[in-house]
Amino acid sequence: MPAIRKTIDETEILRQIEICGRIRAIKNSDSQAGLALVDTYGCQQNEADSEKIRGYLAEMGYGFTQDEFAADIIVVNTCAVREHAEMRVLGNVGALNHTKKAKPGQIICVCGCMVQQEHMAEKIRRSYPIVDLVFGPHELWRFPELLLRVIEKHGRVFATEKDDGAVAENIPLRRDGKVKAWLSIMYGCNNFCTYCIVPYVRGRERSREAADILKECRALAADGCKEIMLLGQNVNSYGKNLDDPITFAQLLSQVEEIDGIERIRFMTSHPKDLSPDLIRVMKESSKICRHLHLPLQSGSTEILRRMNRRYTKEQYLELALRIREEIPDIALTTDIIVGFPGETERDIEDTLDVIRQVEYDNAFTFIYSKRSGTPAADYPEQVSESFIQEQFDRVLKLVQDTARKRVARYEGQVMEALIEEVNESSEGLVTGRLSNNTIVHLPGDASLVGSIVPVRLSSCKGFYYLGEKI
Ligand code: 5AD
Ligand code: SF4
Repeated sequence: MPAIRKTIDETEILRQIEICGRIRAIKNSDSQAGLALVDTYGCQQNEADSEKIRGYLAEMGYGFTQDEFAADIIVVNTCAVREHAEMRVLGNVGALNHTKKAKPGQIICVCGCMVQQEHMAEKIRRSYPIVDLVFGPHELWRFPELLLRVIEKHGRVFATEKDDGAVAENIPLRRDGKVKAWLSIMYGCNNFCTYCIVPYVRGRERSREAADILKECRALAADGCKEIMLLGQNVNSYGKNLDDPITFAQLLSQVEEIDGIERIRFMTSHPKDLSPDLIRVMKESSKICRHLHLPLQSGSTEILRRMNRRYTKEQYLELALRIREEIPDIALTTDIIVGFPGETERDIEDTLDVIRQVEYDNAFTFIYSKRSGTPAADYPEQVSESFIQEQFDRVLKLVQDTARKRVARYEGQVMEALIEEVNESSEGLVTGRLSNNTIVHLPGDASLVGSIVPVRLSSCKGFYYLGEKI
């Protein structure tokens, strides 16, 4: 195993950018059109990683396309959280056989969490010869160097060594749109929930220096960005292992002071680490949005224990209800897994009970997916598919009924919305978002994009509103 590096030296990143220049020169001499397609699966952390891949590609002189047949290079950034996502990736990578036949010089790269698993990298090596480059999340910072090796015809390149991961600053980024930005504040996870593959593929938890995060926020603000989403697998433990420790609540207070940034969001909060300080900072803030994503996973204390979540049903309820009491207008959302090994109808009743009591504004429900290498994959009592489907439908129905009621409760009222974009499917409409994360469509044009405007929420259409600017 390579030695643990805490940070990637700045000169290393400069060397990667210099390699981008060399790739640009090679491409120019080949008179290639130079179009790239980046296809992203999974979470927002992956979206943020893809912005770095695009940043590097732009430095290499690539333009961007959505058309697989037009692309000179295709990068598929994969997810490993559930088997379903992996199957989709493999199906779509397999389909690239056609594009590569039509365009023999096309370079195909597969990166991200899925290929950080040894068996998956091996599968691609054996069964997907069209793939030229495979690299895991820890190698993203040296994508240019790996790509150069492919371009210089050193054959296929696989870079998926096991690694605890490091923090790399100053990788060029290419973000879509200016109004909102994702910003990773930390990487990896130390929690080892027994169902979850993330700690194995993304490595140990490590935080970026607050000064680097604040510098990036200021640059975004100067560029017209209005809303920042701070990302981490468990933002509540941000900063604990830095040389100068700082809490997440303190970081939020510092981001709050940046002029130009009007809204701050963050994801994800592990309930076991959510501090009273964070609740206070949220309550007192005029910029932190009225939305908290608080993954429950299960409402059953016994299942939670076997998931290694380190809270009980009662502790979760106490926390969620306290937050509701302190910040009454907050929207709470959650993640729920159905079908964890050994789960019974009684456990599901507990989950339904928590949903009824907390009244989530939205909940993402997932069927448990067995991930090899995680402790839960070896638990003996895997649950039958018919049981899971039945219970999943019950949970989903309650979640949707509750969410519909919650979302509709502001009908007729006026609330502020940040206008994010011109609505692409309906002419004459723009799309905005309320502080509590609910979407509203309203008449307007491109001149409104980026501004926060008062909107009457005229009618609720299930999970979104139609409204008008007043
Ligand atoms: N099966 C199903 N869902 C999972 N999640 C994580 N691992 C698994 C798994 N093995 C869900 C959790 C997490 C969300 C991002 O994905 O609910 O909060
Ligand atoms: Fe996975 Fe748990 Fe870490 Fe979230 S907190 S990434 S569910 S191990």
